[in-house]
Amino acid sequence: MLRRLHDEQPDSFAFTPANREWAEAQITKYPDGRQASAVIALLWRAQEQEGWLTRPAIEHVAEMLDMPYMRALEVATFYFMFQLQPTGSVAHVQVCGTTSCMICGAEDLMEVCKDKIAAKPFTLSEDGKFTWEEVECLGACANAPMAQIGKDYYEDLTTERFAEILDELAAGRVPTPGPQQGRYSSEPAGGLTSLTGFDEGRERGNASVALAREIGDTVKRIDGTEVPLRTPWRDMSDKKGDAVPQQGPELAGDRPVDETGVEKQTAPVEGSGKPSSFAPAEDADPAEGKKPETFDAPREGGADDLKRIKGIGPKLEEQCNSMGFYHFDQIAAWTQEEVAWVDANLEGFKGRVTRDDWVAQARALADGKDPNS
Ligand code: FES
Repeated sequence: MLRRLHDEQPDSFAFTPANREWAEAQITKYPDGRQASAVIALLWRAQEQEGWLTRPAIEHVAEMLDMPYMRALEVATFYFMFQLQPTGSVAHVQVCGTTSCMICGAEDLMEVCKDKIAAKPFTLSEDGKFTWEEVECLGACANAPMAQIGKDYYEDLTTERFAEILDELAAGRVPTPGPQQGRYSSEPAGGLTSLTGFDEGRERGNASVALAREIGDTVKRIDGTEVPLRTPWRDMSDKKGDAVPQQGPELAGDRPVDETGVEKQTAPVEGSGKPSSFAPAEDADPAEGKKPETFDAPREGGADDLKRIKGIGPKLEEQCNSMGFYHFDQIAAWTQEEVAWVDANLEGFKGRVTRDDWVAQARALADGKDPNS
């Protein structure tokens, strides 16, 4: 297939501040003079931010890596994972068309795409929300037919369910990824024939399903605030520049452990009986913002369902409650300084308040309105 840059290009590209910080951190993984090794990582992040890879983005990445633009272009045009034309503002749908999926109905799924999105792949739907393409085997053959939308797999699809999923996404809802006919993963479609006592966690869904439910989003563009930036390798060099373990706290992955071997993130907080992940992060900058008023318990009548705020899942709601936040009107009243404090103190979810604009959503909910309508 001939892969060319799209004939309509934006004037410029810039990483969001958090994505730029992430990109600069990636470059430090490589020795001096080898920065170009970060090209795929940076191009991919540019695509995750914009939805597709524009010429200004490729030029920007080449400039950051001090490499000729042509070499970055070669990478972008070689790998099919890079989208060289605009993709849907909500999602780019990738339908597997290889053997298992083809036998199990991939062609019918593509008919749904033609009907609901556009007659030809890589063409924007009329409302600009979707594009689609046929891709090679995505490695979920036991759950054929399937499609990848965003970072998630939707498996065991029927044409009806696939059409519903597209409608749900178009309406701003979050369809549940994973198998769509009640399977947990890729066990026999007729039910378990061994390990039949294995029921634990089935209700929660497999890891992809549980994560999608928890974060309440499956197709958001990546702006860099999603996961805290971790750069443990920056602390791993001696004076000669050789990579050696840093003297100091032992590392478990990149999380420090105490002398008992308990990871700091899950060590209990004295007196609380709860893991410290529910307490303000110890490494949060105390100067960052101002702590909002907190409650010891919800008001009479019980706590509000904070999960109605888009971006808050069960875990984050539990963390908010344990910090003393139970009600929409509490969140709605946060000042910028208070938002900064909460953003800095959400363990594992830093920056979420700003990213998902909890305050505006909470205001609407406190007024009895639907923030997403
Ligand atoms: S054939 Fe479709 S996932 Fe393998």
